[in-house]
Amino acid sequence: MPARLREMRWPSDREAVLSFQYEVYEKNFPGFRVTPGFLRDYAVQLKQAARSPYEHMYVLDNGGAVCGFLWIEVRATMVDPLVGYVKNIYIAPEVRGQGYAKMLLEAADEWFRFRGCTKATLDVSVCNEEAVSLYQSAGYEIIRHRMEKSY
Ligand SMILES: CC(C)(COP(=O)(O)OP(=O)(O)OC[C@H]1O[C@@H](n2cnc3c(N)ncnc32)[C@H](O)[C@@H]1OP(=O)(O)O)[C@@H](O)C(=O)NCCC(=O)NCCS
Repeated sequence: MPARLREMRWPSDREAVLSFQYEVYEKNFPGFRVTPGFLRDYAVQLKQAARSPYEHMYVLDNGGAVCGFLWIEVRATMVDPLVGYVKNIYIAPEVRGQGYAKMLLEAADEWFRFRGCTKATLDVSVCNEEAVSLYQSAGYEIIRHRMEKSY
C-alpha cells in the first residue's frame, strides 16, 4: 500500500521528524554536525510551529511508520506580502524515487494557494543535487545566488 500524506501530530511524530534532521542539515550544510542541543532547539521550533496559523507540517505515513516530512509557512518579503516558504522536506531512503517528494510539494502548493500566496520560495545548497533537481522539476527557478570564497 502506498504511503499516505497526513498532518503531523505533535508530539507523537516528534522523534521520527527529529531523526530526519541529521541528513537534512548535514547534507545541506557540509561540515555541520547535528548535536543533541541542535535537536532540542529544533523540537522547540516544531512545537511552536504546530500551534502557528502561519505554519503547517505534514508527514508521510507508511502503515504507521513516518517516512517523510514537510514543513511550510507563509511569510512576507520586502516585495511580496504573502509568499509560501518550504522550510523542510525529507523522504526516507527506502521510499525515495517514487514521487513522494513531488507529492509533498504539490500539497505545499495547495496550502499556499489556499492562503492567497502568489508564489512559493525555498533555499537549497548547490551541493544537494537531488533536491535542486526535485525543485526544478516541481517548477522552482533559481532567482538568487549566494556567493562565498575561501581564504
Ligand atoms: C530530495 C528528496 C526530498 C527527494 O525525494 P524523492 O521522494 O526521492 O523525490 P521524488 O521521487 O519525488 O523525485 C522527484 C524529482 O526529484 C529529483 N530527484 C529525486 N531523486 C533524485 C536523485 N537521486 N538524483 C537526481 N534527481 C533526483 C528528480 O528531478 C525527480 O523527478 P523525476 O523522477 O521526474 O526524475 C530526498 O532525496 C531527500 O529527502 N533527501 C534528503 C533531505 C534533503 O536533502 N532535503 C532537501 C532539503 S533542501
